[in-house]
Amino acid sequence: MASSSTPPPIFILRPLTFLLFLLHLSFTTLSATLPSPTTPTISPTKAPTAPTPSTSPIPTPKAPTPSTPISTSSLDPKQIRALQSLNIPTAKDPCSPLHNSTTICDSSKPFRHLISLTLANCSDDVALSLTALKSLFTLTSLQFIDCPISPIRFPSELSSNLHSFTCINSLKKLTGVWLSRLENVTDLTVSHVTVNASGPSIILDSIKHLHSVTLSHTNLTGFLPKHWHPNLTHVDLSGNQLKGKIPSSLNVMENLLILNLSSNLLDGEIPAGFGDLTSLQNLSLSSNTLSGSIPDSLAAMPDLVHLDLGSNQLNGTVPKFISDMKKLRYLNLEKNNFHGVLPFNASFMKRLEVFKIGGNDNLCYNHSNMAVKVNLGIAACDKHGLPMSPPPAKDSSAADSSSDDDRRSDGDDNSGKGDEHRGPTKVVLGVAIGLSSIVGLIIFLVLLSKCCK
Ligand SMILES: *[C@@H]1O[C@H](CO)[C@@H](O)[C@H](O)[C@H]1NC(C)=O
Ligand SMILES: *[C@@H]1O[C@H](CO)[C@@H](O)[C@H](O)[C@H]1NC(C)=O
Ligand SMILES: *[C@@H]1O[C@H](CO)[C@@H](O)[C@H](O)[C@H]1NC(C)=O
Ligand SMILES: *[C@@H]1O[C@H](CO)[C@@H](O)[C@H](O)[C@H]1NC(C)=O
Ligand SMILES: *[C@@H]1O[C@H](CO)[C@@H](O)[C@H](O)[C@H]1NC(C)=O
Ligand SMILES: *[C@@H]1O[C@H](CO)[C@@H](O)[C@H](O)[C@H]1NC(C)=O
Ligand SMILES: *[C@@H]1O[C@H](CO)[C@@H](O)[C@H](O)[C@H]1NC(C)=O
Ligand SMILES: *[C@@H]1O[C@H](CO)[C@@H](O)[C@H](O)[C@H]1NC(C)=O
Ligand SMILES: *[C@@H]1O[C@H](CO)[C@@H](O)[C@H](O)[C@H]1NC(C)=O
Ligand SMILES: *[C@@H]1O[C@H](CO)[C@@H](O)[C@H](O)[C@H]1NC(C)=O
Ligand SMILES: *[C@@H]1O[C@H](CO)[C@@H](O)[C@H](O)[C@H]1NC(C)=O
Repeated sequence: MASSSTPPPIFILRPLTFLLFLLHLSFTTLSATLPSPTTPTISPTKAPTAPTPSTSPIPTPKAPTPSTPISTSSLDPKQIRALQSLNIPTAKDPCSPLHNSTTICDSSKPFRHLISLTLANCSDDVALSLTALKSLFTLTSLQFIDCPISPIRFPSELSSNLHSFTCINSLKKLTGVWLSRLENVTDLTVSHVTVNASGPSIILDSIKHLHSVTLSHTNLTGFLPKHWHPNLTHVDLSGNQLKGKIPSSLNVMENLLILNLSSNLLDGEIPAGFGDLTSLQNLSLSSNTLSGSIPDSLAAMPDLVHLDLGSNQLNGTVPKFISDMKKLRYLNLEKNNFHGVLPFNASFMKRLEVFKIGGNDNLCYNHSNMAVKVNLGIAACDKHGLPMSPPPAKDSSAADSSSDDDRRSDGDDNSGKGDEHRGPTKVVLGVAIGLSSIVGLIIFLVLLSKCCK
């Protein structure tokens, strides 16, 4: 531009400051219309709590790792050959701790022995052989992860020694009988593997010392067991095709911390005996066809952190005692048939990390109990305690996507979601106005400088 070489005349300075002002204006509107997550509202409160978990010890192998073994002491040659047959590199000492805990050894002499082995991401040409498994009888812990090879019958020396067995998306196909031979296992995890069995009982009844059992996404059929070990702390039978009622006999598991029966075909009512599970922390019965109401006995579960009863056919009113569970952080009651007035206040709901209640068409909330306006996916109550208008979330998918963040939204009941959609258009509008005013001013300035030459 020609005018740039000469000092700008005074009349050009004014449009320039105006231009700067407009630029500033468009940027402030831009940042104001940007979604609020950038503003520090929630994250700082969580940040201080984040470092504390790091004080808990990193999971270290339970097994005694060698302290100061003689450097010549190394893995049993038979076990080295077994590892080689399983395509596990043995060029470096498999007992060295640098081996990413694929292998863990004891410290016996003259040769050390494997006590833990993880086979992960196997190639197709890996095959289990009886010879290899026989020489690996010292294992107490065996994991298969993403290792879809064919299972073979484990030699009895190996299966009686194993205390922990994990099979995730591995071993193609298993049977209940095959698993029930792992008679001394205390921790059993089988997930994303087809398990052909008449029901979980064949496994749970045969393995007497189980503490933790996961049989999830295994297409397991049949009914829930009638007999449960009192020593079980962790039961996850989610994602199967288990049918029938939940047996009240599960109340014997007084040490149970985690129970997950979600995504099955269970029906009937939630047994009152649940109240005896006083140690329970996480309970999920979601995605079944359970009916009836939430039993009062649930009030006796003081340690409950996670309660998921979503996607069932539960009815009755939502019990107020849920809001007295001091440790509760996750609550899902969505997609049921609850009715009446939601007995929760704002301070309780603020305490929850996740709260889902949508998809209960006959349930409503008392406007005057809410300090801030919220979008719960259910209607507000009229003065008779009945839902006022059709619930704001018309289809369930909308309730799904919004339920997590709506809790903290402080917009109107109905405009909460509208804001989300308006947000981006505001930004676009701001950019457009800003850009067009800049372009307009540049044209104006060019014209000005030309006409004043
Ligand atoms: C252990 O992990 C590191 C980094 O994740 C990797 O580079 C190395 O190859 C692994 N070693 C073995 C023996 O798998
Ligand atoms: C398996 O391989 C994938 C990528 O190919 C990798 O991300 C994953 O960590 C591996 N799993 C194990 C247990 O080594
Ligand atoms: C495994 O269990 C059997 C009985 O079920 C018992 O005789 C044996 O000692 C156990 N083995 C180990 C290593 O715990
Ligand atoms: C379970 O069965 C369904 C349908 O029969 C199938 O699509 C799925 O892959 C099976 N899952 C497993 C883990 O076998
Ligand atoms: C499961 O096992 C039974 C009895 O061994 C057999 O008849 C049936 O075909 C098996 N089912 C599948 C899906 O393999
Ligand atoms: C249950 O645990 C107790 C105490 O830890 C133990 O004495 C008992 O043998 C265990 N029972 C079974 C069946 O493992
Ligand atoms: C229950 O299992 C499902 C699917 O396997 C999982 O998504 C959910 O987080 C589990 N819930 C609890 C409480 O463990
Ligand atoms: C709740 O469901 C049970 C079982 O389906 C039924 O017997 C009962 O009448 C229902 N109660 C209400 C209030 O709808
Ligand atoms: C138990 O629930 C809490 C809270 O939702 C969750 O953070 C934790 O991962 C759950 N534990 C298990 C084993 O599912
Ligand atoms: C909200 O409900 C909880 C549990 O019922 C109660 O302890 C608390 O006092 C209530 N807070 C207000 C502000 O009403
Ligand atoms: C809503 O709460 C207010 C104040 O707690 C109470 O007076 C009113 O009766 C409640 N309305 C309904 C429908 O429960």
